[in-house]
Amino acid sequence: MSRKKVIAGNWKMNNDLTESVKLVNELKEKLAAESVNCDVIICPPFTSLYEINKIVEGTDIKLGAQNMYFEENGAFTGQISASMLKSVGCQYVILGHSEPRSIFGETDELINKKIKKALSAGLLPVFCVGETLEEREKNITNDVIKRQIIEGLKNVSEEELEKIIIAYEPVWAIGTGKVASPQQAEDVHAFIRNLIKEKFSAAAADRIIIQYGGSVKPENAKELLGQKDIDGALVGGACLKADSFIGIMKGC
Ligand code: 13P
Repeated sequence: MSRKKVIAGNWKMNNDLTESVKLVNELKEKLAAESVNCDVIICPPFTSLYEINKIVEGTDIKLGAQNMYFEENGAFTGQISASMLKSVGCQYVILGHSEPRSIFGETDELINKKIKKALSAGLLPVFCVGETLEEREKNITNDVIKRQIIEGLKNVSEEELEKIIIAYEPVWAIGTGKVASPQQAEDVHAFIRNLIKEKFSAAAADRIIIQYGGSVKPENAKELLGQKDIDGALVGGACLKADSFIGIMKGC
């Protein structure tokens, strides 16, 4: 099966409203003049979503958020619900990213609740997994990935899985300029695809999009995206400039 590649930009905590509008307008203009062979998602900060949705509506740029909480509403100061994200035009939501895992203590159990809630609300999760440098050096990468996938996808049905993108982001490669080698990434992607086959089915494994994230740039995108089990990229730093984000898309 040939899977269409998906390139997503995680803006992280960058760009106020004015900067966001400028970047997305530039991206929209430049993309209209290119033919790229992939799906494109951008995940700006919450405060820019409403305005950006108005700019990307009707284009091929899809909108996602960077996190959400699993409750519907109530006394959860500082949190954002799935329905709030839907109401400002989000189709996707990044869940399980290593920054909320490591900085804010998000657990596999919490991430699983968020994934279940996103699915029931009709949002498409971009579910991130990845090992730290210490875990890689201890040779427990596969164990860590397996635990994150099994726990994160607990009680997720095969039908629901069709709505999920998995992003493999080795923590040691995020924001460090130290990209995983195409073979290192491919090994973990193949491992994840096999896990999906065991837990769900061969058809589910064949269908699922598994993105790579961690220091992806135009210079290394083509080789990474050329690997058999790498179906796209989740891009941090390099998505903050329209030219480099598009440069990555051209690697598809
Ligand atoms: P960088 O591309 O800046 O390494 O970030 C990757 C990432 O965390 C995307 O979610």
